[in-house]
Amino acid sequence: MGSSNTLGSLRTVTETRRVGAIAIVALSAPPVNALSEALRLGIRDAVEAAEADPELSAIVLIGAGRMFCGGADITEFGRPWQGIGLGALLDRVEDCAKPVVAAIHGMALGGGLELALACHYRLATPAARLGQPEVKLGLVPGAGGTQRLPRLVGTEKALDMIVSGEPVDGRAALDLGLLDALAAEEGLEAEAVAFAGRLVAEGRGPRRVREDDSRLEHGRIGLFAAAREAAARRYRGFEAPQACIACVEAAGTLPFAEALAFEERTFFALMAGAQSIAQRHAFFAEREAAKVPDLPADARRRPVRRVALAGPDLAGAAFAGAAEGPGRRLAAILSQAAGLTVLCAEGAAPPDLAGCDLVLAGQTRDLASLEADPEAILAVAADAPDPSGLAEGPRLERVLGLHPGAPLPGSPLPGSRLLEILRGPATAPEVLATALGLARGLGRVAVVTRGGFIGPRMLGRLRREAGRLVHEGASPEQVARVLTEFGLAPAPLGLDAALPEGEPAAGHHRRAVSDDEILERCLDTLVDAGARILEAGGALRASDIDVVWLAGYGWPAYRGGPMHGADAQGLPALRDRLRALADRGGPGYAPASLIERLAAEGGRFADLDRRRA
Ligand code: COA
Repeated sequence: MGSSNTLGSLRTVTETRRVGAIAIVALSAPPVNALSEALRLGIRDAVEAAEADPELSAIVLIGAGRMFCGGADITEFGRPWQGIGLGALLDRVEDCAKPVVAAIHGMALGGGLELALACHYRLATPAARLGQPEVKLGLVPGAGGTQRLPRLVGTEKALDMIVSGEPVDGRAALDLGLLDALAAEEGLEAEAVAFAGRLVAEGRGPRRVREDDSRLEHGRIGLFAAAREAAARRYRGFEAPQACIACVEAAGTLPFAEALAFEERTFFALMAGAQSIAQRHAFFAEREAAKVPDLPADARRRPVRRVALAGPDLAGAAFAGAAEGPGRRLAAILSQAAGLTVLCAEGAAPPDLAGCDLVLAGQTRDLASLEADPEAILAVAADAPDPSGLAEGPRLERVLGLHPGAPLPGSPLPGSRLLEILRGPATAPEVLATALGLARGLGRVAVVTRGGFIGPRMLGRLRREAGRLVHEGASPEQVARVLTEFGLAPAPLGLDAALPEGEPAAGHHRRAVSDDEILERCLDTLVDAGARILEAGGALRASDIDVVWLAGYGWPAYRGGPMHGADAQGLPALRDRLRALADRGGPGYAPASLIERLAAEGGRFADLDRRRA
């Protein structure tokens, strides 16, 4: 016999089944079992019902669908807990008088791992991923993660997991002491039931993580100082990593309940802060970017397995790891990707195009007379592809542009996490769908554009403004320092080399230029360039422009992207600054009409995205 909890909008959120004396409570809130108010209440009720039932002796918590649990419901963030708080729910689970076993497959992330930590025993499949990624949203774990994890895996390892946000797999979790046992990918539920049955047979009851301090390593001299120093270096500018360390430290210096309260206060303080708001914006922006409203859901997505490099620009590029030029960078990225064969010219002979799914060239003219298969995609990767190559000529429905963003220092590949996809006026839906699939296969965030690539166009405007500032009296080093202090990696801007010489804006004379002016003018003109692209239909959403800068040009995640930053500061102020610049420097500085309109309406770029969604 089974029962289900149907709460909130009449969605079924948990399903309880019985196998003998064991209750199996399945979390059932697709797609990721996020711990929404309805699911929190559902788990509480299901656990309480099983606890009260004299015929039941133990409880297995398991995830229905793809995973155990993807964490707290991020869409609820920014508001106080409704119904029952996550921390209160986990206390309730940990206090349960009957043993509770977490059976984990897929993901146990954030609140999902915290839920597992509040259970009395844990099993997982080898491929499961367990982690506390809250730091990536500018937060600390807010429901006991910083208190229970160090008690299970030791303080140093917990610091590592919580501060980096990186998950571990099931096997590593077992070695760390996070799990009691591994279970086969198929048959997790049966193994968890058998495990719970053994607990009952052996008279082993609840085992509460909060009661065992033996693995805390708080006496270790220098542990926290070293963690703080490393985090300051590795996550320059980010607030959350330091807050995570403070919470883990509290596990050893405060009684459990007080440390939990400290963690929760820290969580809510960070949640209200600009950094977490920006990082949450970035999280959803990345997921939105993958959606192309006018792309039919059934557009055929062909696998890309064989790529040919065409034209003189890409000759011999594939294996050089070359960092110069988007075409050569993309060629290097493709040639390093698993499952892809990349053919390039041998000597003077062009590669054999037969059987190739994609032909990549550095110029649109190189695509004009190719003897490629009729189904092959013809892609150009250049900062500014010749628009006529996308709009005129044969087989235009197969043609599009691809751009991998800037080369980032320290990145394992000569590029970023971005793949801009430029649609031509005639690009066929299946060609676009295939390019989106390629981006996903490469582990890249796709942003679909029209009229030109977003990144290079905006970068051009930023570099021009930087050049003007130098012309007016700033030194290239000062400009580079100001932008670096803002959090931008200078390499994509070309600031490691000499800055391009800019035309001095009319009315400007060589003078001392303040750091504030440099930052303001660089950012304001960059946002203006973004607004112009947006109003011309070159980007689907303002947040796509943010994704380009976050994923492709080293924009710091804690600032959420240029358009988000402008929204946060207010568009009337931006408009006024651009108008003042135009008064001094000429009409080229006048704000985009979209900025004028939104500022007049009291609107934000994000409102446009919301209206379109
Ligand atoms: N709360 C609310 N919604 C969430 C969510 C969460 N914790 N995690 C994912 N989602 C949503 C996504 O926004 C997306 O919605 P959409 O389809 O409307 O765009 C959907 O669930 C699927 O997520 P997606 O990221 O596309 O799936 P995936 O399989 O690639 O990755 C996760 C799944 C769980 C690994 C990934 O979504 C993730 O990292 N989530 C955040 C985890 C986290 O930080 N948890 C801590 C919060 S305390």
